[in-house]
Amino acid sequence: MNKKKPIILVVGARPNFMKIAPLHAELQRRGVEQLLLHTGQHYDEKMSKVFFDDLGMPEPDIYLGIGSGTHSEQTAKVMVEFEKICFEHKPRLVVVVGDVNSTLACTLVAAKLNIKSAHVEAGLRSGDMRMPEEVNRIVTDSICNLLLTPSPDGDENLLAEGRDEKDIHFVGNIMIDSLFNNLEKAKSSTIHEELGVTDNEYAVLTLHRPSNVDNPKTLEGIIEALEMIGKELKLVFPIHPRTEKNAKKFDLFDRINSIPGIVLTGPIGYLDFISLTSNARIVLTDSGGLQEETTALKIPCITLRENTERPITVTEGTNQIVGSECNDIIDAFNASMATDYSSSTVPEKWDGNTASRIADILALEG
Ligand code: UD1
Repeated sequence: MNKKKPIILVVGARPNFMKIAPLHAELQRRGVEQLLLHTGQHYDEKMSKVFFDDLGMPEPDIYLGIGSGTHSEQTAKVMVEFEKICFEHKPRLVVVVGDVNSTLACTLVAAKLNIKSAHVEAGLRSGDMRMPEEVNRIVTDSICNLLLTPSPDGDENLLAEGRDEKDIHFVGNIMIDSLFNNLEKAKSSTIHEELGVTDNEYAVLTLHRPSNVDNPKTLEGIIEALEMIGKELKLVFPIHPRTEKNAKKFDLFDRINSIPGIVLTGPIGYLDFISLTSNARIVLTDSGGLQEETTALKIPCITLRENTERPITVTEGTNQIVGSECNDIIDAFNASMATDYSSSTVPEKWDGNTASRIADILALEG
């Protein structure tokens, strides 16, 4: 029998898993020939496997086992291994998501082999080339065939960069599919009891950007702000491996551990995490995805960065871009605590149906 060539869906790091899960499920439902490929950029059970389990995704069909390294090492290793997979399986399309090194590496391989590629979450721009993700986003979008955007600013950015309108499709935010699909299931999470926190009486904090955690002075400024905020609200802090390693290196780990109200834990699985964020009083973060999830959940968000590639979360959602200076963080915290976001809007097409819109577009690709 003449089997159709597969679509390869690529994941690599933690924020990719919730973006691929709904698309994988939708393509499976439609009987599309597909292979789920994990590069292994993130590999610890708590950064990877727990997400597959929580999201109901099957084990990856292909695991490249790349692991950590410098940006070039990681990107190059993914390219070498992914090229072999493309030779072997001859995919008709490669689907990449987000902006991590695996996203860029697999898109480059596909482009060099003249294999069509699609980028889910295309068009986002922070304007900050010091961010490795910004480089990944720009290069990926410039060589991908199908550009699937989460918000109209994505379309505008791509058009301004000279991309053809016919390659751009505003499909909505697929991460919100995962969020809405799993909120009910997350109600059975026992994470609040485990951490000793009560609904609406704690903040969630995440911190892992190199710009915040690779520089001891910046990290110290953030800690100072947290020491004040922690006097008002418990602070649940699932610490990222990069942040933990650096805090220990800079002799700041004990100080973090002594912040009043701090509830320090390791990385948390998907269902526990959305249970925590959906019941938080406020979220402080430097993550990209969390800015979007809080907007969809109408939970106030303070973003500890100078810029965002997701401006719609500020113009239509609950997000404030604040930077990493102690006083700015405290001012924003006080302002957010005094604001009622319960009637804030949720951006267009952040409705849980993005995977289906993407599958419709992929179906046109033969
Ligand atoms: C990567 C992504 C970033 C994303 C983040 C989410 C890039 C350029 N960066 O950053 O966009 O927001 O993931 O988490 O792709 N480590 C572990 N266990 C793991 C994985 C990593 O301990 O499973 C350690 C590594 O040894 C390394 C550190 O965490 O020291 C950072 O990992 P790395 O993958 O280089 O980048 P992230 O900071 O996680």
